[in-house]
Amino acid sequence: MTQALPYARIIGSGSFLPPRCVSNDELAADLASRNIETSDQWIFERTGIRQRYLAERGVKTSALATEAARLALADAQVDASEVDLIILATSTPDFVFPSTACLVQANLGNKGAAAFDVQAVCSGFVYALTTAEAFIRAGRARCALVIGAEVFSSILDWNDRGTCVLFGDGAGAVVVKASAEPGILSAELHADGSQMGILSAAGNVAYGAVTGDPFLRMDGQAVFKQAVTVLDRSAREVVAQAGLQLSEVDWFIPHQANSRILTFLARKLEIPLEKVVMTVDQHANTSAASIPLALDVARRDGRIQTGQLVLLQGVGGGFTWGSVLVKM
Ligand code: UT7
Repeated sequence: MTQALPYARIIGSGSFLPPRCVSNDELAADLASRNIETSDQWIFERTGIRQRYLAERGVKTSALATEAARLALADAQVDASEVDLIILATSTPDFVFPSTACLVQANLGNKGAAAFDVQAVCSGFVYALTTAEAFIRAGRARCALVIGAEVFSSILDWNDRGTCVLFGDGAGAVVVKASAEPGILSAELHADGSQMGILSAAGNVAYGAVTGDPFLRMDGQAVFKQAVTVLDRSAREVVAQAGLQLSEVDWFIPHQANSRILTFLARKLEIPLEKVVMTVDQHANTSAASIPLALDVARRDGRIQTGQLVLLQGVGGGFTWGSVLVKM
């Protein structure tokens, strides 16, 4: 066990998207060839999505995660050998086991770090980041790689227009290090398993076959209502926990599922839309990858600066939700 430093700080980020970008029009044409009707207009008006990146069949979550992790390590100027904790959030792991975190560890050439996956669907990254912070503050780790990565296209029912147009593939990662300076200021996580039915992929591999339903199913309106309610409450709680005001938040990065949810939430919280990082138009909903992807985009384009306050919020299947308030 190492000596505890009082704080955990994000010191680098990276993200990776598969090369194939599919516009709404291209997707609509593909679905039309199978007599499934949709349009750029419907998708954009209801969700704000313009396009998504889709991995080729056979490309696994660990491959996207490894690329994002390499970029995050390079950005943090940390060698893979210095990492002593790898937490990877995903609902589309490569295998039942070993964990995708272990596969990424092997790809990076790291030996000896603790490595495990976190399963909290679209809240996975805030769950993983909060867990890494707790390890670091307890002195059980000094340098963590926290990754959100998904090949969600592999669990979509491409005959269900109500869900298949909404999601994309990708990965984002951050390096979190023990620090004498404040970094992650507060965090809070929640779940309500009684609402498992509104968003699930209720299948499993058992006895040599897939049992149950291998595809994602969602009651979109129930998820929408639940998301805006819990995220509003959670944002207020996490900011109060840090002794701060919502008006002090510089950047707001909620899970990127639907621009209508993001704008509705920002209005409820009285956060100006200019402070909301929005990538759902470009990436669609990439589940556990959406928050670190958006964070990395806004760091690299110069919007998010060192010292600024960033509010991260996840929400999704489980039902799960949570928030992390970060000083960059
Ligand atoms: O990552 C976890 C978090 N997930 C979310 O936050 C998702 C939350 N929910 C949503 O974003 C929205 O509920 C959706 C975008 C999923 C759906 O939007 P909606 O405004 O709730 O639409 P709806 O499900 O009520 O469907 C309206 C109509 C229906 O037709 P009828 O019954 O009114 O004739 C659907 O059949 O739109 C139809 N529809 C479509 N039409 C064209 C559903 N999907 C499509 C489609 N293209 N792709």
